[in-house]
Amino acid sequence: MRKYWETPANATGEGANQQQLARVPDSVSLGGVHLAPATLLAPMSGITDTVFRRFIRNLGGCGLIMTEFTSADGMLRDKRMRGRYLHFYDDEHPISAQLFGSDPQVMAEAARMVEGLGFDLVDLNLGCPAKKVVKCNGGSGLLRDLPAIGRIFQAVRTAVKIPFTVKFRLGWSDDEIVCVDLARMAEDCGLAGVALHARTREQGYSGQARWEWIAAVKNAVRVPVIGNGDIRLPEDAAAMVGRTGCDAVMIGRTAASNPWIFRQVAQYTATGAYTEATEADRYEMIRTYFQMLIEEELPGTEGKMKQFASWFTHGVANGAGLRKAVYESRTGPEILARVDEFFSTRLSRELVANISKA
Ligand SMILES: Cc1cc2nc3c(=O)[nH]c(=O)nc-3n(C[C@H](O)[C@H](O)[C@H](O)COP(=O)(O)O)c2cc1C
Repeated sequence: MRKYWETPANATGEGANQQQLARVPDSVSLGGVHLAPATLLAPMSGITDTVFRRFIRNLGGCGLIMTEFTSADGMLRDKRMRGRYLHFYDDEHPISAQLFGSDPQVMAEAARMVEGLGFDLVDLNLGCPAKKVVKCNGGSGLLRDLPAIGRIFQAVRTAVKIPFTVKFRLGWSDDEIVCVDLARMAEDCGLAGVALHARTREQGYSGQARWEWIAAVKNAVRVPVIGNGDIRLPEDAAAMVGRTGCDAVMIGRTAASNPWIFRQVAQYTATGAYTEATEADRYEMIRTYFQMLIEEELPGTEGKMKQFASWFTHGVANGAGLRKAVYESRTGPEILARVDEFFSTRLSRELVANISKA
């Protein structure tokens, strides 16, 4: 089976020539919060913690970073949860906090906390397909109950002054597509923008994102529409804008295997071309990210390093050797040493010394 990152996405498909004309906008405003460029990092649980977010921000080209989804109930119950999921640094602005939950009052209270913590935006998750979230009517579970969504929209909207957005899927299944109605309702309730991952809950991550629904949502509302799903290359980002008219694009999984994607989209927008990362860039990137992880001392650091070593090394010749070495290591510094060793056989000694000292 082909891996996600090995499959060419939509840019070469139907309507590919529209991408020539389209560009990702230089900026978008969500309720007065200015994002430049209009390329956003998708929230990803287990991935978009403060370290990953700052890492992406530092590489350039990303207009908004978002937290992992955070349980509104959990936040009210457990202070540690706030510390773990909603901790951010000053250099992360503009930043959005994503919440999930189903009780309007709890959501409103959690949104107030988010505002108090200094976030620039708050986002409601209506897309998560995970069983444990759906079971308590959170995430995509709510897609079957528009009136319940309306009550959350109203409660959160009146609770906070910061812009409020929603991220959702097409609907529960092909027979229950609600994205256009949902987007209209969001606009009517005063939300500042909508982000659509163009798959149903039933689809999970399978098949292709159906960008035609992003176009349908764009035609239905005046608030900014953020398109999401299957952007693997800068050409895909341009093609999504060309085919849907969306105001901003959001990138998830590709960021984990190619964190330069945001910079590449910006380059492609400006010049019609972009540079690929060299092996030295890759080394520097893995090292920087791992060093940041070790310094932050977040729970599960070694697991994250192993996971990332596997994503980052796709496209690196003999990457399998590094993945094996990393999986056999036990501590963060040990993993870092394996990375240094691996690249020292491939890059000049001088280059390795420069990068590992930096
Ligand atoms: C590991 C993983 C974790 C995710 N966690 C979240 C989340 O916390 N909140 C959310 O709204 N979407 C989450 N998503 C969905 C992504 O934000 C995004 O909508 C989806 O991956 C499609 O975009 P992509 O094709 O660019 O990856 C997650 C996706 C992945 C792969």
